[in-house]
Amino acid sequence: MTAGLRQVSDAPALDLQDMAISYVVPSVIDRFLGRNTPPVATVEAITLTLRQGETLGLVGESGSGKSTILKSIAGLLAPIAGRVLLNGQDDLPPRVETRSGQQLRQVQLIFQNPDESLNPRQTIAQILAQPLKLYFGLSGQELLDRSAQLLEQVRLGAHYLDRLPSQLSGGEKQRVAVARAFAAQPALVLCDEITSALDVSVQAAVLALLDDLRRASATSCIFVSHDLAVVKALSDRVAVLYQGRLCEIGKTSDVYGAVSHPYTEVLLGAVLEPDPDFTPTLSAGDVVELSPPAQGCPFQRRCPKRLGPVCENLAPPRKTFSDGHSIWCHRDDLAPHAPVDGRAVTTEGV
Ligand SMILES: Nc1ncnc2c1ncn2[C@@H]1O[C@H](COP(=O)(O)OP(=O)(O)OP(=O)(O)O)[C@@H](O)[C@H]1O
Ligand code: SF4
Ligand SMILES: [Mg+2]
Repeated sequence: MTAGLRQVSDAPALDLQDMAISYVVPSVIDRFLGRNTPPVATVEAITLTLRQGETLGLVGESGSGKSTILKSIAGLLAPIAGRVLLNGQDDLPPRVETRSGQQLRQVQLIFQNPDESLNPRQTIAQILAQPLKLYFGLSGQELLDRSAQLLEQVRLGAHYLDRLPSQLSGGEKQRVAVARAFAAQPALVLCDEITSALDVSVQAAVLALLDDLRRASATSCIFVSHDLAVVKALSDRVAVLYQGRLCEIGKTSDVYGAVSHPYTEVLLGAVLEPDPDFTPTLSAGDVVELSPPAQGCPFQRRCPKRLGPVCENLAPPRKTFSDGHSIWCHRDDLAPHAPVDGRAVTTEGV
């Protein structure tokens, strides 16, 4: 898997603008009567751009909001604030029910567990026929030929067309789920832990075919995984999430580089151990928190580099370096590189 060889265009495929998502939304009556202070949003202030053909890795510990963000982009969970723009101009309605056929076609979500996404009563032919009929009006021999071609692309033969999902292995089912997603010729594929339910021996094969398919079609991808080595191998850029807030985003080599956000250091130090000389400079601190603090830095209660009241009271500013690498932190000593082109680091939100 060599992410660097892929063609990535400058054109935006997806823009998330100040996106916020909450599972608990007070009723109109409660708000009118001033009851129930709105809870802190599960996900907040997510602003990022994904370019055409680019793969963005989305990482963060369990409960950090990765699936929540993907579900919201896919229209399964309406955000409480912010915009989701497709191809730089198409404002995506918050829910699938109100999206057009073209909008539905362009965003495909592949789930962790294919058993939950493949209808057990449909044959593989019927499963693949759905997007091909709906979005491209295929029928008859054309439909059969395209279905067989899709199965070939995921290294399954046409003889699988008559089988039911229960007659496939876990890895084969996930290949069908990948084939169905790419049958729609999407602009964006959202991959949520797509190999974590699979045997280790088949994980690499599924990831390799995903890599081939998106490379061949220049499809953009948001890739969520707890396997940080896989994220590193597949992603052009990586976004790090803590308690539903962005900590860091940048080119994969920068985020995995020597100096980064204190939480990224904890995350990488806890999970990645490819280098025998690597010594984590921080420990993960206490247990995983249930909700972010009402103000200040979301990582303040666990951060070994905490500065004091500024971290407790003020949201960390976004510091963007000349190479597009951004870190949300009050510290001034986290600059990962000297700014290039003589341009200074820009700071927002202070
Ligand atoms: N349906 C729901 N109702 C209420 N809260 C939810 C719901 N689904 C998720 N949450 C909460 O939202 C937060 C983010 O959950 P999410 O599933 O997005 O995390 P995640 O980063 O995908 O975690 P994991 O790596 O374990 O899959 C968690 O605190 C979780 O408890
Ligand atoms: S803003 Fe403060 S608490 Fe948050 S990561 Fe930076 S140093 Fe740590
Ligand atoms: Mg998840």
